[in-house]
Amino acid sequence: MKSLTEMACDVLNTADGREKTALSRRYASQWQAARAEGAVPDIGKGAPPLRPARPDQPQLLDPRDVPKRKPGTPEGRTAILHAVAHIELNAVDLHWDLLARFGHLDLPIGFHDDWVKAADEESKHFNLISDCLENTGSFYGAMPAHAGMWRAAEDTIDDFMGRLAVVPMVLEARGLDVTPGMIKIFQNAKDTQAVEAMNVIYAEEVHHVAYGSKWFHFLCGRDNLDPTPLFHKLVKTYFHGGLKPPFNEEKRAEAGIPPDFYWPLADQR
Ligand SMILES: [Fe+2]
Ligand SMILES: [Fe+2]
Repeated sequence: MKSLTEMACDVLNTADGREKTALSRRYASQWQAARAEGAVPDIGKGAPPLRPARPDQPQLLDPRDVPKRKPGTPEGRTAILHAVAHIELNAVDLHWDLLARFGHLDLPIGFHDDWVKAADEESKHFNLISDCLENTGSFYGAMPAHAGMWRAAEDTIDDFMGRLAVVPMVLEARGLDVTPGMIKIFQNAKDTQAVEAMNVIYAEEVHHVAYGSKWFHFLCGRDNLDPTPLFHKLVKTYFHGGLKPPFNEEKRAEAGIPPDFYWPLADQR
């Protein structure tokens, strides 16, 4: 069995979406099988690429240049699915990048278990949404997608706490805020396949945010740091713009993100 950081780099260096998620799921199940037998597999030390390999399509555009989506039309809903597939593929890479870049640090093995599970779930999410897309006659790569989703990773390439603050605790927490609205759109359109896929995503994303909060607080506790001001400082350093209300306070609470973490950073405009 390869070391965890080697596995992570293999996933990052695989361009095609379906191939990336298949490899990701295979490695995750190898890891989980070893852990179920009580083994502590080698973590190693990775040399992840600055940016993960990606397919030639979709074309990546500045968010301002990506056409606006009208949720009332089938084309608009296909565009939403496409945007979600893009987010999920980025999330696969974000979790493996976290392991590849920071996995060698002195951490309890439960840290690695959590992020392997998160990476596996993101891979499932990409596949579920790609299935929905393909059933509409489209596919991942058929439309342009947002460039710049990797920015949070690049900005926090050497700041582990910054990465935890910005990726799971800001970006993935934002997912909890917006997913119920998306589920509504597909419920109204009676697209049960998309509703089911998004319900899986919604339930599992709470755990990813919770892993972020859990390990952020663990590290704060180990280093005797005050979590709330540190979180505010890191988000102001690495996240561009305020956080957008309304917040899903209930799910954020479930994920261990208290109101005094995000309200002071809320967009005041
Ligand atoms: Fe996801
Ligand atoms: Fe996630």
